[in-house]
Amino acid sequence: MPLNVIIAPDTASAFQQAATFLADHIRGAAHPVLGLATGRTMESIYALLVSDHQAGKLDFSQLTSFNLDEYVGLSPTDPRSYRHYMQEHLFGHVNMRPEHVHVPDGTASDLVAECAAYEAAIQNEGGLGLQLLGIGETGHIGFNEPPSAFDTRTRPVTLDDVTRRQNAAMFGGQPGAVPHTALTMGVGTILEARELLLVATGSSKARIVAEALLGPLTPDISASAIRLHANCTVILDHEAAAIWKQQKSASNL
Ligand code: GLP
Repeated sequence: MPLNVIIAPDTASAFQQAATFLADHIRGAAHPVLGLATGRTMESIYALLVSDHQAGKLDFSQLTSFNLDEYVGLSPTDPRSYRHYMQEHLFGHVNMRPEHVHVPDGTASDLVAECAAYEAAIQNEGGLGLQLLGIGETGHIGFNEPPSAFDTRTRPVTLDDVTRRQNAAMFGGQPGAVPHTALTMGVGTILEARELLLVATGSSKARIVAEALLGPLTPDISASAIRLHANCTVILDHEAAAIWKQQKSASNL
């Protein structure tokens, strides 16, 4: 199946469609295993899932999750860590079992061993059913900064300065305070999920969305790898889709 690109009528409906997609997977799979993402884009999506749960419409008790990435050196209780982000936006508000929740441990004494154990834990659950993805300004999925080969696995990575600037808000607006390194699932790990869902909203994503969806398949834009997946949906709002639409119609002339 080619990439399924959905342009939502507005941003709120992009988030709603993404939340419905995830909720359907949680309800529909016998053993739901979700790969989860962080970032501002996901906050609204998680808020919708939390309200479904609070309305008694969505049970998380059977769900197992694996987050994409974590900063090296931040403890799970550090308010700037992705583990803490997940607690604030999702885990703390739904009935997931603590033993079903997985986020790479950026404080592990042996980071390489932590990454190998993370890969093994994913395999142990039968692999990822659906992987949720955002896209960074460098074109990264997870923290797969340029260049990230398409067969990379979960590993420690050095963050791009562009990404450290993009993510500075959580660090008092100081790019210099953003850790230089992180742990991330690899592009190969992500591509092994049975299904992918990438969500991007807002005009700041328009250029990189177009490059990822229409440019070369390249380790320099790890998000371009999603086009190699047999079952991938992309949900965009009009702003994020703008350049992709222009370039696509120009190439069809
Ligand atoms: C971080 C995460 C990515 C995410 C990106 C987008 O860099 N590691 O997985 O896709 O943020 O963030 P935002 O949604 O805030 O634009």
